[in-house]
Amino acid sequence: MKLAEGRPLRRRMMAAMAQQDCGQCGYNCNDYSDAIVSKAEPRLNLCVPGGKETARMLKALNEELEKAPPASSGAAAAPATAAEPGRSRDNPVPATFVSRRLLNKSGSEKETWHIDFDLSGCGLDYVVGDSFGIFARNDLGHVDQIIALLGASHTTEVRGKTLREVLIDDVSLAPAPDSLFELISFITGGAQREKARALAQGEDPDGDAATLDVMASLQKFSGVRPHPEAFVEALEPLQPRLYSISSSHNATPGKLSLTVDCVRYVVGKRKRFGLASTFLAERIKPGDQLKVYVQKAHGFALPQDPKTPIIMIGPGTGVAPFRAFLLDRRATGAPGKNWLFFGHQRSSCDFFYADELNAMKTSGLLTRMSLAWSRDGDKKFYVQDRMREVGRELWTWLAEGANIYICGDAKRMAKDVERALVDIVAQFGARSTDEAVRFVAELKKKGRFQQDVY
Ligand SMILES: Cc1cc2nc3c(=O)[nH]c(=O)nc-3n(C[C@H](O)[C@H](O)[C@H](O)COP(=O)(O)OP(=O)(O)OC[C@H]3O[C@@H](n4cnc5c(N)ncnc54)[C@H](O)[C@@H]3O)c2cc1C
Ligand SMILES: NC(=O)c1ccc[n+]([C@@H]2O[C@H](COP(=O)([O-])OP(=O)(O)OC[C@H]3O[C@@H](n4cnc5c(N)ncnc54)[C@H](OP(=O)(O)O)[C@@H]3O)[C@@H](O)[C@H]2O)c1
Repeated sequence: MKLAEGRPLRRRMMAAMAQQDCGQCGYNCNDYSDAIVSKAEPRLNLCVPGGKETARMLKALNEELEKAPPASSGAAAAPATAAEPGRSRDNPVPATFVSRRLLNKSGSEKETWHIDFDLSGCGLDYVVGDSFGIFARNDLGHVDQIIALLGASHTTEVRGKTLREVLIDDVSLAPAPDSLFELISFITGGAQREKARALAQGEDPDGDAATLDVMASLQKFSGVRPHPEAFVEALEPLQPRLYSISSSHNATPGKLSLTVDCVRYVVGKRKRFGLASTFLAERIKPGDQLKVYVQKAHGFALPQDPKTPIIMIGPGTGVAPFRAFLLDRRATGAPGKNWLFFGHQRSSCDFFYADELNAMKTSGLLTRMSLAWSRDGDKKFYVQDRMREVGRELWTWLAEGANIYICGDAKRMAKDVERALVDIVAQFGARSTDEAVRFVAELKKKGRFQQDVY
């Protein structure tokens, strides 16, 4: 926000976003800010990685926008386009959940699932590199605990449905929105009211604000029982989640698979769980339908020339789109060389798709496979450490025109891998660090270095 001071509103709105172009809001960050400024998009709470901080800042900037004369926004009103069914979060279609299979073996600290869907009913297709958006449903037990805290009946009618149905299908029960604290402040008094008001303004009076999901908020202000209608109105709509597709439509038409790491953690004495990952891991049953859409990748795809070699770096669930790339290249008979860097915690239990990948190596589809196990030895060993070990060969592939791809954790892994790549270019491409940074930037500009990170 500091860097964007004095810039037009649309630039300041974009500055308030996480700027990962992750696509979870249904836009790239630039398009999302343009859509808000042009009033084509009224929702200010769609930036998932930016969370409540982005939503608060967008709300403040939007108040400025409301006061400003129309011309000062600097953006032309973009007409809202009706999205094709199944091609956007605003127009999902039903798909069938087929099965799940645990990818970790016993002894693992992770819980990662291979998930299969059948798209034949909805007729959706996709290309490798695309992501799949799913609308999950909240857990019934969790919903009923919230209804009990409200002192309400689950059959209370809200928005033409039962309270239970609304809480399962329509609203987010994760981080408590400012509007819930506002509501609580209106219906209580004294110190409670002051606390709720402070929380609604983004303050943290008791040092627990980051842990307050909807249930924890009701427990914190126990005895405050908002009316179910007002309560539901104060909550955020349930947002879809995106997953990198790990199958190829060319190889298995009508089928789609994902590789999903299950989010579970504990805060205080309460077990918390990620909405969509646990929905896929345990709540949805084979044959059940769910709402889905395909989110087209922007700049994450196989090279147009099937002869172009590719280097894929995907630790953990980052392997997902690369499994898809390999299956696609096999199905289409693409002759280009393929090099996969995969890593995870332990070789004995965290080698996802080991049989498949080893068979691809044996058949020659996978020209090279480089593995890095972070917890097998005394010291952490990551994919970028393996890359440095084979830096000379990696440079040779790049010099031959290979595309390079990274997928997985955005916060640390992707940055560290890019740093290693710069070092490799500097060392084996005989360049200064500045030249190597420019070389890597140029690879990005030419679309030869692509990322799908989250
Ligand atoms: C383009 C894209 C592709 C993706 N591809 C994949 C993929 O292939 N596979 C995959 O598994 N995921 C992928 N993701 C991530 C996925 O979309 C979800 O964010 C993830 O599954 C978690 O969603 P959830 O609903 O289960 O958890 P949520 O209900 O969203 O909960 C997650 C939140 O819980 C909190 N949290 C998590 N762990 C802790 C902790 N230890 N302590 C405190 N708080 C914590 C954090 O606030 C976190 O944001 C992708 C994301 C994007 C944007
Ligand atoms: N918020 C967090 O702290 C956190 C942590 C991990 C993952 N995540 C998220 O969890 C989701 C799924 O993760 P995942 O199952 O795909 O796998 P992951 O937990 O990201 O781990 C995959 C592998 O990457 C290693 N790794 C950790 N830091 C790395 C780094 N800086 N550079 C290279 N490799 C690194 C891990 O090692 P070690 O675990 O042994 O270090 C592990 O071997 C992702 O969305 C990711 O962003 C969040």
